Amino acid sequence: MKPIRLRLSSPWQGHTPLALRRTVFGLHHRTLPDVAARYYATRFGYALSRCLVFSNYGQPEKVLSLHSYSIPPPYGDNLIVKFLASPINPADVNQIEGVYPEKPEFTRELGTSGESAVPGNEGLVQIISCGSRVNSSIRPGQWAIMSGPNFGTWRTYAAAKESDLIMLPNKEGISQLDAATVSVNPSTAYRMLRDYGNLQQNDYFIQNGANSGVGRSAIQMANIWGFKSINIVRNRPGIEELKKELVDIGGTAVLTEEEAKDKNRIAEATNGEPIKLALNCVGGESATNLVRVLGKGGHLVTYGAMAKKPLCLSASALIFKDLHFHGFWISAWSKENQAAKSAMILEILEWIRNGEFKSPPYDVTTWSDDTKLRSLIDAVNKGISEFSGRKGIFLMNET
Ligand SMILES: NC(=O)c1ccc[n+]([C@@H]2O[C@H](COP(=O)([O-])OP(=O)(O)OC[C@H]3O[C@@H](n4cnc5c(N)ncnc54)[C@H](OP(=O)(O)O)[C@@H]3O)[C@@H](O)[C@H]2O)c1
Repeated sequence: MKPIRLRLSSPWQGHTPLALRRTVFGLHHRTLPDVAARYYATRFGYALSRCLVFSNYGQPEKVLSLHSYSIPPPYGDNLIVKFLASPINPADVNQIEGVYPEKPEFTRELGTSGESAVPGNEGLVQIISCGSRVNSSIRPGQWAIMSGPNFGTWRTYAAAKESDLIMLPNKEGISQLDAATVSVNPSTAYRMLRDYGNLQQNDYFIQNGANSGVGRSAIQMANIWGFKSINIVRNRPGIEELKKELVDIGGTAVLTEEEAKDKNRIAEATNGEPIKLALNCVGGESATNLVRVLGKGGHLVTYGAMAKKPLCLSASALIFKDLHFHGFWISAWSKENQAAKSAMILEILEWIRNGEFKSPPYDVTTWSDDTKLRSLIDAVNKGISEFSGRKGIFLMNET
């Protein structure tokens, strides 16, 4: 068969670029009308995406740069998505630093001079247009979140496959920020409370880093399921306000790290009832203190290492108290449990819709067409700073 040669001369004059592509290549795709005007504003219907990229591991300040690239219209089973909001999680920064076990793929696909990757693992997208072979139940305008890690969510547009996404069938009563942050922190809290320690109504668990995204989620889920939470946070100016905030979302008791060293304070908080489960976000001495107050046969689940210090466990905790130690990683769990993950996310979104579950306080950085690299890097640094009290998030609404 002879190759077709295109001459973009007189026969094609009068066609719009989109009509021209459809005529020449027989492309068919469904497109969101209100976004289409902007999306197709670029020549020949290519979308222009702006993204943060990195080519080497290191401090975000040193390795992140801003890059623009064009995305062709969707074909076959491709979709074009627009990012609406992407959180800044500690794991994203660890990944940029090169100290996270899951590494992104570095490629030249984005047209950078060397191989690069887009950071960001979690995010909310809106479907803009679908290739002709995409499942017809997926419509432009719908929302979706990433089905797994490493997509590279710190960008404004992307080409995706159906398998990259979990579709959210109902946006009603859900903010973009809620939806963007549902898949990592609330899901982690959900699994740890459900899968370890066999908690029953009125049982106690204890957690450090209780004001983190995961910690706040655990407090509220415990409330929904009838568990009781002892919540440990670091002391700071304004500690009483933070304690009140966590009690207001359902925490049974909130203690500082220093207060929690006193076993009597813990016994007072639990009315002498045993603690069956401990959730460890921090490590180091803070984790040792959780172990000291766990009841016989209790379980400690480590999911974070914010203090960057190893766990020190006494032999007696293992020998005489029969304690059990676990690690939990939502990425690994999700890979094995895609259907259960989708169902869990819909359940959490339903709680948000009903007002039973609130997302953490946010520190929003609006990402517009003219946002500078400096502002994005400042947002990344701020998002992971100590005592920030807020979850950093990019809101790409304006692009
Ligand atoms: N294993 C998993 O599947 C999984 C899933 C989600 C998250 N995580 C991990 O869980 C941790 C929390 O994540 P997140 O998104 O919930 O965090 P976040 O909302 O950003 O909150 C960070 C938390 O860490 C505390 N913190 C920061 N530096 C600390 C230090 N040096 N010593 C003690 N505490 C410190 C903060 O307390 P202050 O207010 O006192 O600074 C805050 O409670 C991270 O390590 C993250 O990687 C793991």
